Amino acid sequence: MNLKALITGASSGIGFAYAKYLSNQGWDLSLISNNKERSKKAELNLAYKNAKFYTNDLSKPDSIKSIVNSQRIPDLIVANAGVAVNGPIGQLSADEKDRAYYLMCGGVIDLIEGFLPSMIERGNGRIVIISSIGAITAMPKSSIYSSIKSGVYAYGKSISAELKDTGISVTVSLPGYVRTSAHKRAGLDHLEKKVPNWMWVKPEQVVKETEKASLNKKTEVVPGKVYKITRPFLRFKTAIDIWKSITKRNQ
Ligand SMILES: NC(=O)c1ccc[n+]([C@@H]2O[C@H](COP(=O)([O-])OP(=O)(O)OC[C@H]3O[C@@H](n4cnc5c(N)ncnc54)[C@H](OP(=O)(O)O)[C@@H]3O)[C@@H](O)[C@H]2O)c1
Repeated sequence: MNLKALITGASSGIGFAYAKYLSNQGWDLSLISNNKERSKKAELNLAYKNAKFYTNDLSKPDSIKSIVNSQRIPDLIVANAGVAVNGPIGQLSADEKDRAYYLMCGGVIDLIEGFLPSMIERGNGRIVIISSIGAITAMPKSSIYSSIKSGVYAYGKSISAELKDTGISVTVSLPGYVRTSAHKRAGLDHLEKKVPNWMWVKPEQVVKETEKASLNKKTEVVPGKVYKITRPFLRFKTAIDIWKSITKRNQ
């Protein structure tokens, strides 16, 4: 039997690039996203016989339950699905915040914990969580997104330590700006012009570096040279001010 990967948010961007990468290595793929049209398009683009596409709204706990109850135990889980949630303090409704938290944090935990007991019993497997550089730097007007990504980062680091000696590795990836449809979908298209070219990383690069880190059992990875170099300075005020001025948002 082929190795099996379950990737959430595989219809576009980083998730689709991950699916493409693993398809070239002969993996069986379970690919989950929400929008039927985009899922169908991704299926045609991937054109890979060992991939199965599913549509589920991962901001709902029932979707995670049905995935855990129906899928073969994965050898690799890539918890990637997400949206760019933005808005100044107090702008998001309670419902918007709940959905975003579940999609990118609570649901990621439920998905992983749904499969972990069987993976531990089997004694092997890998987990990859796509967080964000926003987990470790200030993101004005995206404070909710930043807090969600911090939450899932903390969770990933903690279970990575807890799972030591079980045969299961956990890697949290912290990408900076990645050229995907995420910003456009969130109404942040102006960032594509405003953020300089050197700050953008390709989804394929994120996948390459994240897979390498996961195979090497690293707990975290910051893809892209520019982010690796700047990471140690991100907590300093001057760096935050520079970051803010480069990435200043209209909304
Ligand atoms: N792009 C960046 O600059 C950047 C930087 C750091 C971290 N990230 C993180 O990277 C991950 C992937 O984002 P991306 O940039 O590749 O964006 P993307 O191209 O917009 O892809 C997002 C994926 O998540 C899926 N998704 C969104 N909401 C969903 C829901 N409710 N249920 C199921 N699937 C859902 C989308 O599926 P549908 O087709 O159904 O919408 C799509 O497949 C996210 O977690 C994001 O926070 C992105």
